[in-house]
Amino acid sequence: DNKRYFSTELLSWYHKERRDLPWRRSRDPYHIWVSEIMLQQTRVDTVIPYFNRFVDRFPSLRQLAEAPEEDVLKHWEGLGYYSRARNLQSAVREVVERYDGRVPSIKSEVSGLKGVGPYTAGAILSIAYNQPEPAVDGNVMRVLSRYFCLEDDIARPSTRVAMEGLAQELIPEGEAADFNQALMELGAMVCTPKSPSCPECPVMKLCKGRLEGRERELPVKTKA
Ligand code: ADE
Repeated sequence: DNKRYFSTELLSWYHKERRDLPWRRSRDPYHIWVSEIMLQQTRVDTVIPYFNRFVDRFPSLRQLAEAPEEDVLKHWEGLGYYSRARNLQSAVREVVERYDGRVPSIKSEVSGLKGVGPYTAGAILSIAYNQPEPAVDGNVMRVLSRYFCLEDDIARPSTRVAMEGLAQELIPEGEAADFNQALMELGAMVCTPKSPSCPECPVMKLCKGRLEGRERELPVKTKA
């Protein structure tokens, strides 16, 4: 069926095409966490040097917890949205106090950390711990809207919840880490907002949005 096809083809495409990004060389949940916070409002190319400098200066979660806040902010300079850095440091301090310095692998615990929403929690649980949790951001909603030709407004919380259910169903057994990153990679490299590169897409053949010629109208999003 079209779900099985999507997951299988996407995963094998990712195994061939995946970019060698610095945070993909690590399975340290703290490194994954830092990368996902940086990537929330900032492009991959911009994040790379910041991520490298940041983990070079604060290699472990404890070192970040113990650092002076101004030092942390200095390493964030230019990335913007500085509350991300402040929240990250206070959450990391909480991990030291409550979880003996280990990033929790239980959904309710990760989700309870400052600055960690459903997307980031899913990314940490799936990428660092290979748990079958969805990590649905704007890129992933765009890919799913197009492939399944879903016209629900992605600005609505109920749409996001439905997409999370769908994204979770699509995760192949034991492949959460690679599959979720494959979805992100497809959204970033192929299924881009304005002119998707359908001829390069591993799932073009069964993409319903494309088959109906409506890939550029999707996703539907009302409020800016
Ligand atoms: N955007 C958000 N998370 C990402 C990741 N892990 N790799 C590449 N792009 C991303």
